[in-house]
Formats: sequence, C-alpha cells, structure tokens
Amino acid sequence: LFSGRVEFLLSAPQLKFLPDPSVPEIAFCGRSNVGKSSLLNAVTGRRAIARASVTPGRTQELNIFEVGQPTQFRLVDMPGYGFAKAPVKVVEKWKQLMKTYLRGRPVLNRTLVLVDSRHGLKDADREMMRMLDESAVGFRVVLTKTDKVKVSDLDRTAERVAEEIRRHPAAYPEMHLTSAEKGMGIAELRAAIMVDAGL
Ligand code: GTP
Ligand code: MG
Repeated sequence: LFSGRVEFLLSAPQLKFLPDPSVPEIAFCGRSNVGKSSLLNAVTGRRAIARASVTPGRTQELNIFEVGQPTQFRLVDMPGYGFAKAPVKVVEKWKQLMKTYLRGRPVLNRTLVLVDSRHGLKDADREMMRMLDESAVGFRVVLTKTDKVKVSDLDRTAERVAEEIRRHPAAYPEMHLTSAEKGMGIAELRAAIMVDAGL
C-alpha cells in the first residue's frame, strides 16, 4: 500500500476543515522536534511528504495524508507539544484542537505517541497519554532517533518507558524502537499501522 498512492491532502487549523470521516485515521503525536514528520516520511517511504524541520514547533495544524487508491486510510501529523517557547495562547489553542479531535473523531483508530529515545518520557507526554486514556483512543509508544543513543542507554530507557506505560489503560503494551534516519523498526511499524487501519 505504501508503495502506491500516498498524498498530502490538507492542513487543518480547525476541526471543521477535516475531511469527511470516511476512512480510518492513524495520528502521529509527540513533543516538538521528536521526529513526527521524519517518521511519517520514513513510514511512507517518501523523502519529504511531511515537512521535517530543525525549527521546533513548525507544524501547527493537523496535516492529513492519504494512503491507497482509492483511499484506504489517512495518516495525521499533529502539531508538536511541550515546546517551552510557545506562547500560552498557542498552547491553549493546541490543547483545544487536540481534545476535540481525540474525543470527536470516530474514525481515529490509533495514535502513535513518539518519544525521543535520548530523553524518555516527559510530563508533556504523560499529559498526552492521560488525554488519550480519557478519550479511549488506543495508542502505541514509539521511541524515535535510536541511532543517537548507545544500545545500553536505549535498553534502559525502553525498560523505564515500558514500565510506565503499563499504567495507561489505552496504551498498547509493546513499544516500537525506530530510527527514521537509519530505517530501524520502520517495516515493523508500517505493518502495525496497517493492522491499526484494519487492513
Ligand atoms: P515539529 O513538527 O516541529 O513538532 O517537529 P517533528 O516532531 O515533526 O520533528 P522533525 O521530523 O521535523 O525532526 C526534527 C529534527 O530531528 C530534524 O532535524 C530531523 O532531521 C531530526 N530527526 C528526526 N528523526 C531522526 C532520526 O531518526 N535520527 C536522527 N539522527 N535525527 C532525526
Ligand atoms: Mg513536524
């Protein structure tokens, strides 16, 4: 499927701009700069379908991508959270958008919560996971940028994160270890996304 049609559809600053909920959606969320856009590019095998950037907080809308011809499911690149320099107003707007999207989108089958393998879970991630629990949206935790850490450190971080996500009812128990840069864990994640999309 990913080798076929993958297309950017639209960028939605508000829910009313979202397309009709006609196919399943899988959302990518995580702190600013965690690697959401890069992972989306890696999973779809496209170099730059989602815009990756060195400037954190670049993605401010819900960016929607379609997969398949006809469309089988959509991938949603969400705005990053936990960006310290973001103005309060922007943060509030983001929270509102996220909450209404998570609660009011019946086709949202799964959310991927991306966590930087150098940093592990931060409070902003915990808040996000609580929001997902409350909205009853199942999520997978995906460690990103594994090429940037030593294997021993990665093991320790993965263990700590696994321990913590056990307490979240909406969390999928297994984690994904990935590097968009080196391609590690991408094929497995791609397969998991297909399952989540009901394929
Ligand atoms: P926002 O949209 O601003 O929230 O950021 P994002 O989460 O979409 O992150 P993005 O994909 O733009 O990546 C941020 C930075 O991390 C870029 O400089 C990427 O090149 C880098 N990066 C992303 N994934 C990897 C990875 O697997 N390995 C390495 N070494 N760098 C990565
Ligand atoms: Mg991005």
